[in-house]
Amino acid sequence: MHPQIPGEVGERGRGHLYTVGAAGGCRNSTPNLWRESRHLSGSHLLSSEQGTTRRLPAVTQRADEHYEKIASQYDDTWAHRPEYLSWMSDHCVRRLDMVPGGQVADVGAGTGLLLGRLAEEASPNKPILCIDPSQSMLDQLPDDPRLQPIRATAEDVAAGRVALPYEKLDGILIKETIHHVTGLTQTMQGLADLLVPGGRILVVSLPPRLEYPLFQAALDRFAAHHPEPETIADKMRAAGLETEVSYEEYPITVDRDHWIELMGRQWMSVLHSFSDDEIAAGQDEVRQRHSERELQFVDRFAFVLGIRR
Ligand SMILES: C[S@@+](CC[C@H](N)C(=O)[O-])C[C@H]1O[C@@H](n2cnc3c(N)ncnc32)[C@H](O)[C@@H]1O
Repeated sequence: MHPQIPGEVGERGRGHLYTVGAAGGCRNSTPNLWRESRHLSGSHLLSSEQGTTRRLPAVTQRADEHYEKIASQYDDTWAHRPEYLSWMSDHCVRRLDMVPGGQVADVGAGTGLLLGRLAEEASPNKPILCIDPSQSMLDQLPDDPRLQPIRATAEDVAAGRVALPYEKLDGILIKETIHHVTGLTQTMQGLADLLVPGGRILVVSLPPRLEYPLFQAALDRFAAHHPEPETIADKMRAAGLETEVSYEEYPITVDRDHWIELMGRQWMSVLHSFSDDEIAAGQDEVRQRHSERELQFVDRFAFVLGIRR
């Protein structure tokens, strides 16, 4: 069992929240029906074992600001569309080989975008552990006893710095989060060690070279910060897992002006790293490159599966 961490902040809503580590960036969206039923509240303070309280590190506060900023925009991309959610969930559930009663964690769960379908295999007795360092994102989780929010990073879980209700896991999902994880070799090893024999880790990630109609500097910066799927698979193999890498594509059509507006709202974390002037110049670049009313491109995901034998 993992030792209790010093950052536990107690019980809120239906689950225990743990406060550790730094948050990263995100693109996301959340179905409306889930957002209406939120009641978890957030804390931006860490409490030590001695009962003293200290502020989160500056980097975490900056990242939290990012999530505060995008929280109200989740419904504005294609990712909330039922057909997209069902497409993505099916690919995840099938690869994770989820069965009722399994002990599953979604690391970097965010708002729980995909968890509706995954929760069908869970129960209040065996909830899905929704692990994320961002309180703003966890605050968007649906009020569902089959989901248990835990505020922590992947690194914390891997290093045993956070107490989980399950000693071992049948499945770990890491979707659009792996680019935020540091020390990938050690983190993957720590996560792999949590798996039962036959247990699975599924990393779903955009490949570094995006086909999105973003401005060039954003595409380049995105690529520089995203690991290649094969690199993720290498880390899994080094952690003793068998691996399979596969790709799936989802065609997107989006109104050009809405897309450019989304860029202005910095809906992807990579955009958050540009100044307002740089974003405005980037929007102009996209306007000049695309005169068509609707933009069409492909959302292409790598599914990197690791199985413990
Ligand atoms: C792009 S969002 C993905 C959320 C969700 N998995 C989804 O697909 O909708 C990335 C999430 O990773 C979280 N995150 C950032 N750094 C992390 C870390 N080191 N460990 C775990 N999660 C992290 C962010 O707070 C955010 O919620």
